[in-house]
Amino acid sequence: ARAGVIVVAAGSGQRLGHGIPKARVLCAGRTLLEHALESVIASGVAGAVVVVLPAGDPVLSAVVAEAALRSVYPTSITAVAGGATRAASVRAGLAALPPTVGVVLVHDAARAITPPAVFQRVAALVSAGASAVIPVLPVVDTIKVVEDGIVTATPDRALLRAVQTPQGFDADALRAAHAGDAAGDATITDDAMLMEASGVPVRVVEGDALAFKVTTPFDLVVAEAVLAAGVA
Ligand code: C5P
Repeated sequence: ARAGVIVVAAGSGQRLGHGIPKARVLCAGRTLLEHALESVIASGVAGAVVVVLPAGDPVLSAVVAEAALRSVYPTSITAVAGGATRAASVRAGLAALPPTVGVVLVHDAARAITPPAVFQRVAALVSAGASAVIPVLPVVDTIKVVEDGIVTATPDRALLRAVQTPQGFDADALRAAHAGDAAGDATITDDAMLMEASGVPVRVVEGDALAFKVTTPFDLVVAEAVLAAGVA
């Protein structure tokens, strides 16, 4: 069965400095949301796609409406309004997915040029029975813990991984985690962390350098260069 895919795009994108929601920022002539949806569709894993948007955004609503018109069975694409935090936006997306969906992928629209193969790797492992699956990359920098300007620890780099999206989950496990005690915890930054807090084992698959989050103007330049070079 195909996965339900929640694409969260309701962030304000202040770090990009464009003064508009990040998903609306143009990259090689198209919005970041259009790029993200193209990857989702090209992966072939998506059944119901729910795009979570800033409330009342006419540009992004039109992007989703156009993608919905072009979508072919069995893929459907709809939009819902997001919440004040990423977790609240994911919950809005979850509520809008058909209750019959067994596998849910949660993807950041900001990871706009994520290769379709990453969606396929994540979806395959969840479909094979894993409750929670995240794409990761090794960390190339040495990472320090810093408190009040002083380094207090250096975790063993070999144990560290940088985490990307799409993150994949058994739908019932994700719904339970989002209904649980940890759901309102503001220090929880992704869905996998919520699953960890619920005691659910989280497995990893290989991520991809192209699944980076477009956060700064530098990232936008990189994404445009990648698209121009035809690497993505
Ligand atoms: O802010 P951050 O880069 O962590 O956002 C990651 C993703 O979560 C982005 O795609 C953003 O649009 C989305 N988000 C959301 N609702 C929020 C905050 C972030 O959908 N309230």
